[in-house]
Amino acid sequence: MGAATTTRKDGQSSDDHTTMLVRKIPDGSVIDHIAAGKALSVLRLLGNPQENGFTIAMVMNVTSSKMGKKDIVKVEGLEVSQEQVQRLALIAPRASVNIVRSYRVVAKRNAVPPRTLRGILSCTSPTCVSVRERDSAPSIFFLSGRSPLRYRCKYCGTELAEKEIISQLG
Ligand code: CTP
Ligand code: ZN
Repeated sequence: MGAATTTRKDGQSSDDHTTMLVRKIPDGSVIDHIAAGKALSVLRLLGNPQENGFTIAMVMNVTSSKMGKKDIVKVEGLEVSQEQVQRLALIAPRASVNIVRSYRVVAKRNAVPPRTLRGILSCTSPTCVSVRERDSAPSIFFLSGRSPLRYRCKYCGTELAEKEIISQLG
């Protein structure tokens, strides 16, 4: 809870202004604190729910007391799974996922990068066994750094930098 929370009641905070841009949702998920510019990547990671009939609201490039500028994604009627929250950490490391039921936030999940990733990233070394023998050696990566994010291939030790990780998932 930052300064914006305490100033919210007087109607002057930037977060309050943000709230007015999109209405509260009755049920579903609110993914908050996405780095500015990453909202569309987040939607893609969730499997583009708007293409399956879900109603989406997006706020992009709004002022945040915690992170300067941020994006917010709201998906009505869809509760983001724990596995999706983990994957979210890879492209939106500071994101918080709010699960909403009957207009109330009933759970707040922080995106924590998983220690191990199976079948999600691809090794960038063309000689890696996971590239040459995809079927017998599915890709496995271990977390090797958080800020910036880094993952190391189990088979050949190649490290993927945050930029590469985001571009593979985004
Ligand atoms: N929200 C929503 N619809 C609801 C309830 C909440 O769209 N029915 C949104 C809020 O607008 C906010 C987010 O979900 O963007 C989280 O709500 P809440 O926990 O009430 O806000 P904060 O306390 O500001 O969250 P944080 O501490 O994570 O910044
Ligand atoms: Zn490898």
